[in-house]
Amino acid sequence: MRIDIITVAPELLNSPFQHSIMKRAQEKGLLDIHLINLRDYGLGKYKQVDDYQFGGGAGMVMMVEPLMNAIKDLQQQRDYDEVIYLTPDGMQLKQNISNKLSLKNNLLLICGHYKGIDERIREHFVTMEISIGDYVLSGGELAAAVLVDSIGRLIPGVLGDETSALLDSFQDNLLAPPVYTRPAEINGWRVPDVLLSGHFAKIEEWRMEQAYQRTKERRPDLLDEE
Ligand code: ADE
Repeated sequence: MRIDIITVAPELLNSPFQHSIMKRAQEKGLLDIHLINLRDYGLGKYKQVDDYQFGGGAGMVMMVEPLMNAIKDLQQQRDYDEVIYLTPDGMQLKQNISNKLSLKNNLLLICGHYKGIDERIREHFVTMEISIGDYVLSGGELAAAVLVDSIGRLIPGVLGDETSALLDSFQDNLLAPPVYTRPAEINGWRVPDVLLSGHFAKIEEWRMEQAYQRTKERRPDLLDEE
């Protein structure tokens, strides 16, 4: 999968993808991330990318032309399955969205800044708008990093153990069960016996039950989702 990210702050996105699973995904050739500096498409001597908003009001708006030129340039090179704008008024990111996006070939992400991007870009180029939660970040970059991470780990072959993503929280609308590692006892705190039993079916049953209980207590809303 190739993910292109248009941003005015590429340095914000350099490090998140150079560690652990994202790094491995790229090394394995399963994920190819490209950062496109919107400044390269800026207008005039000062490479302008934003301007005052019509109708007044505080805050700058990212202009149509630099974004349009960047998007068109990229679209000439390949077809994008989705052009995604990260924005607090988009649809809220959920695991099922990441699951679906992890099966795509080419994604183009647009990070907004300031007051956001000119509405005409949203109308004419953007195919999907995603928010990572009900809070406002100072730019879309951290949201893009979250989205790419959540998608990247789901790309087939990225996680060594193919089943491990299937047992994550939110898959099947359940939170993940508790996990333990060695030692089996410390300070008198014992790992549940069933996990040490070696009885695979019983362990699975215990995990399902724990996942269900945890979801019921902490996120009963998930159990109502289809
Ligand atoms: N940009 C600013 N805030 C955001 C959010 N919550 N989700 C996605 N993009 C954003």
